[in-house]
Amino acid sequence: MEKKNKIAVFPGDGIGVEVVREAVKVLDALAEKTGAGFALAYGLVGGAAYDACGDPFPAESLELALTSDVVLLGAVGGPKWEGLDYSVRPERALLGLREKLNLFANLRPVNVYDELIEASPLKAEIVRGIDILIIRELTGDLYFGQPRGVRVENGRRVGINTLVYTEEEIRRIARVAFAAAQQRRKRLLSVDKANVLESTQLWRDVVTEEGRAYPDVELRHMYVDNCAMQLVSHPAQFDVIVTTNMFGDILSDEAAMITGSIGMLPSASLGERGGMYEPIHGSAPDIAGRDLANPLATILSVAMMLHHSLGMPGEAEMVETAVRQVLRDGYRTKDIHHEGAILVGTAAMGDAVAARLLP
Ligand code: IPM
Ligand code: MG
Repeated sequence: MEKKNKIAVFPGDGIGVEVVREAVKVLDALAEKTGAGFALAYGLVGGAAYDACGDPFPAESLELALTSDVVLLGAVGGPKWEGLDYSVRPERALLGLREKLNLFANLRPVNVYDELIEASPLKAEIVRGIDILIIRELTGDLYFGQPRGVRVENGRRVGINTLVYTEEEIRRIARVAFAAAQQRRKRLLSVDKANVLESTQLWRDVVTEEGRAYPDVELRHMYVDNCAMQLVSHPAQFDVIVTTNMFGDILSDEAAMITGSIGMLPSASLGERGGMYEPIHGSAPDIAGRDLANPLATILSVAMMLHHSLGMPGEAEMVETAVRQVLRDGYRTKDIHHEGAILVGTAAMGDAVAARLLP
């Protein structure tokens, strides 16, 4: 019997619902074309889950994720839930999935498509041919460190979060980064703030130690503030960038804008097994439900899923080629639209990609 790949699908909130619908359309088209089997099982996370049962990350959703081969996620959050206590905010679902599935390595490729160069706020000569892989540590740092919270001390409030990394945590993400660099242009940049933060001096030391096992990879270090600057002034110098959870969150949004739109960037979160795939953008409540969102980041996340978790690199390539073809044919959602291009909505963009997969 053919193998069914079990995919837990969590559309989440806002445009998450719309972009995941298009990604599923593409999976269906791929199944029709290649005969590959995908078994999709839907679950609730985020604000949608909170509204349904008072818990943004219900036990059955965790169970579904744990019993699936991979997770496809849209986005979580929105102003409706911003006033809630941290323990029940939509973001808890995302952080919970990362933690419970032990997805410590977050891969965020940043590519500039020639067709979209004009969409970048930077000059064409600066961004042409950009091909960066940001590897963000995803289960440590300020996001998970203890102690945390706001408490009252001596009659005034004190807010605390803890930046903590163990040497094992640094070592395992460094290995992922060196291995990725070996598959690419063999240049790795490690980003830290070692001039001020001891925990990131340890980061620098451990990455350097790990580097001895990868003599073919050229390792450099950079402070995060400098890196933020260089990303807009000389982005072409970068191949693989490895960094902490917090710095990776910020730098990957910055890098996304180089490509013209955050609506173009996919991501993979990997651990010992399985993986979670999601666009790097959020739930964009301002445009939700209006057929305006760009589904390509989620569709490209499906390509990453096929490649990294489902052992289907050929199928991944087909999806990527279909996306490139659609861009070449001039289709644009609003975020990447320019004069002379064909302006389409979320659903029509998904249709266009799916159509290019079918015979
Ligand atoms: C991301 C997002 C999340 C993060 C939020 C939604 C919790 O910004 O995946 O980059 O901060 O990690
Ligand atoms: Mg972010």
